[in-house]
Amino acid sequence: MTECLRDPLRAAVLGKGAWPIFLHGEAGSGKTLAALCVGDWCGDCAYVDMPTLCHMVNDAAFGRLLDDDGSAIQVTAVWKNWANANLAIIDEIGSRGKVSDAHFETLKMTLDSRERLNKPLIAISNLDPEALANVYDDRIASRLSAGTVCRVDGDRRLEIHDAQAVDSPSPAAAKRRVG
Ligand SMILES: Nc1ncnc2c1ncn2[C@@H]1O[C@H](COP(=O)(O)OP(=O)(O)OP(=O)(O)O)[C@@H](O)[C@H]1O
Ligand SMILES: [Mg+2]
Repeated sequence: MTECLRDPLRAAVLGKGAWPIFLHGEAGSGKTLAALCVGDWCGDCAYVDMPTLCHMVNDAAFGRLLDDDGSAIQVTAVWKNWANANLAIIDEIGSRGKVSDAHFETLKMTLDSRERLNKPLIAISNLDPEALANVYDDRIASRLSAGTVCRVDGDRRLEIHDAQAVDSPSPAAAKRRVG
């Protein structure tokens, strides 16, 4: 797990830090991996990213979301599953510059349904609260800023790529090394 996240995540899990946890920062900085580590530790964890959740809610509304037996999953069942999990993780918030009303309402429900039950939530975005206030509004930014907010820097994907490509660096890696 990314070093700077270990202490705040441990504090929250031990009941010594505030929920929800909001992880934001650079692409590839380890936000998703760190959240999934907490999810593994909790056991019963619901993980979904915003684009997928929006599709799920939309498909459920039109009877197109099916379980393994081919039965339609209702919208209420999607939210019940989300509310019941010990830990819920919502990833890729604000990954598009513009959001529809339905997307906005889905995110608000995602946050409020956990807050209402006082249950732990980890929310993840590449955008900071200020930028999210521009994409969504102040109410979303306020909800995401109400607990533990962690900024994560450093693209680990590039680090991994650079380490694997010492003998034949990509143009980007070569440029970084020269610079
Ligand atoms: N602590 C770590 N040690 C080594 N590798 C790590 C660590 N954390 C993350 N990684 C690796 O770095 C890459 C990016 O991690 P991850 O997908 O969690 O980043 P992210 O911040 O969620 O990125 P994005 O914003 O693009 O979704 C992955 O290949 C992951 O396995
Ligand atoms: Mg991610």
